[in-house]
Amino acid sequence: MAVIPITQYGDRILREKAKKIKNVDDKIITLIRDMFETMRKANGVGLAANQVGNGNSLFTIDLTGVEGCEKIKPLVMINPEIIASSDELVTIEEGCLSLPNLRADVDRPEKIQIKYIDTDEKEVIIEADDFLARVIQHEYDHLQGKMIPDRVESYEKNKMKNELMRIMKREVEVNYPITDR
Ligand code: NI
Repeated sequence: MAVIPITQYGDRILREKAKKIKNVDDKIITLIRDMFETMRKANGVGLAANQVGNGNSLFTIDLTGVEGCEKIKPLVMINPEIIASSDELVTIEEGCLSLPNLRADVDRPEKIQIKYIDTDEKEVIIEADDFLARVIQHEYDHLQGKMIPDRVESYEKNKMKNELMRIMKREVEVNYPITDR
């Protein structure tokens, strides 16, 4: 297993739409293992493949260290598709390993239904709410090339500008490996 440098805001792959995975082969399984190791090293709760420089459609989630979520098993979602969302929105503060030190309130549907394939290539449909729904939607955004600044009002994005610039210039100190500029 290996810890992979995490891509940072400004890295082009974070703006690209992920490609569907045709076969869950050994390469993908190794990628998943490395993503879990990278995510744990960085104390993250979710990680999308493009955050480790890979253009495939998958993300990993591990909420076992989050209060109230200890019972949710670590998840891998391959080729995920959100098939339903509640009308009700909730505001939750989000962070992102590709946006170190930046936090922002983001409004998103409270509940979702998501379809994906697991590592045995079996199709799974689950409903998620609360924090799990939040993390899934954040990671799902990554696979569409979207990030937190795209989910806030423009005046708020303006307030982030300096911080985003500092991230792009690698001026923000992080305690996990990140990509070079
Ligand atoms: Ni993120």
